[in-house]
Amino acid sequence: MLLIALFLGFLYVHDESKHALFGKLWPRLTNSLTTRTVLQRNAVLQVLNGDNSDSIKLIEIGAGTGENIAFIDKLENVAKINYIGVEPNEALYNLLLNRIHTLNPKFKYETSMKFGGEYLNRVADNSVDYILTTFVLCSVDEQQSLLKEMYRVLKPGGKLLYVEHVLYYDEARLASHIFKGLQIVLTPIWRLIAGGCELHRDTESAIKSVGFSTSPQREMVYPILEPFPLYMPLPLKYGSATK
Ligand SMILES: C[S@@+](CC[C@H](N)C(=O)[O-])C[C@H]1O[C@@H](n2cnc3c(N)ncnc32)[C@H](O)[C@@H]1O
Repeated sequence: MLLIALFLGFLYVHDESKHALFGKLWPRLTNSLTTRTVLQRNAVLQVLNGDNSDSIKLIEIGAGTGENIAFIDKLENVAKINYIGVEPNEALYNLLLNRIHTLNPKFKYETSMKFGGEYLNRVADNSVDYILTTFVLCSVDEQQSLLKEMYRVLKPGGKLLYVEHVLYYDEARLASHIFKGLQIVLTPIWRLIAGGCELHRDTESAIKSVGFSTSPQREMVYPILEPFPLYMPLPLKYGSATK
């Protein structure tokens, strides 16, 4: 018990170790999360299929190991995508690069090992068609300022495509208050082992607060917490938010 407490205390003060631990854990978890969120990822990315532009500029913030690239690659009616993957975690960034190199050359790929806000600082106002985030806005340190930056760089009518887990949304029953309470209580420990991820963020409100309009769908998913046979209930909100 004391060892666990010391380890968590060490992670609390040592940011780099927290990210290094996440770089080791995440590649084990990512497959379970992706297979349980195929529907939601496909749903938000379908917007690209309806876009008739000759070329689309899409920035993915927090691309992780590149899980979404396989989904983007399968879109049939998209002419040309200029995809930029931004991923600050070195271990995950290397896996992202591996995945990009195996994919369809009809898409133009670029990557950056920066934090989202740091990358977007250098991007011109009103210059991006789409930004994609999946399970990222739960863990960015500076959620509000990153969302403002996303809003700034998107073209008028441009879209933030997102699949995010959030604070449980059902107001009605006692069980939902218990669930929300657990999300709040577990977050301080969870954020240490899960790369800063917070279970109780009201991300839909945050997206709207910077000016986007959005009416997301909601769903519960249950990825397995490998290597343990434990299911993690995650309330999701997903959809597109328009500038
Ligand atoms: C839970 S993973 C999700 C990865 C991927 N989007 C997916 O759906 O599989 C969260 C990712 O966000 C990245 N991340 C955390 N803070 C970030 C920030 N400020 N800017 C960009 N990426 C960030 C992490 O390094 C990690 O790759």
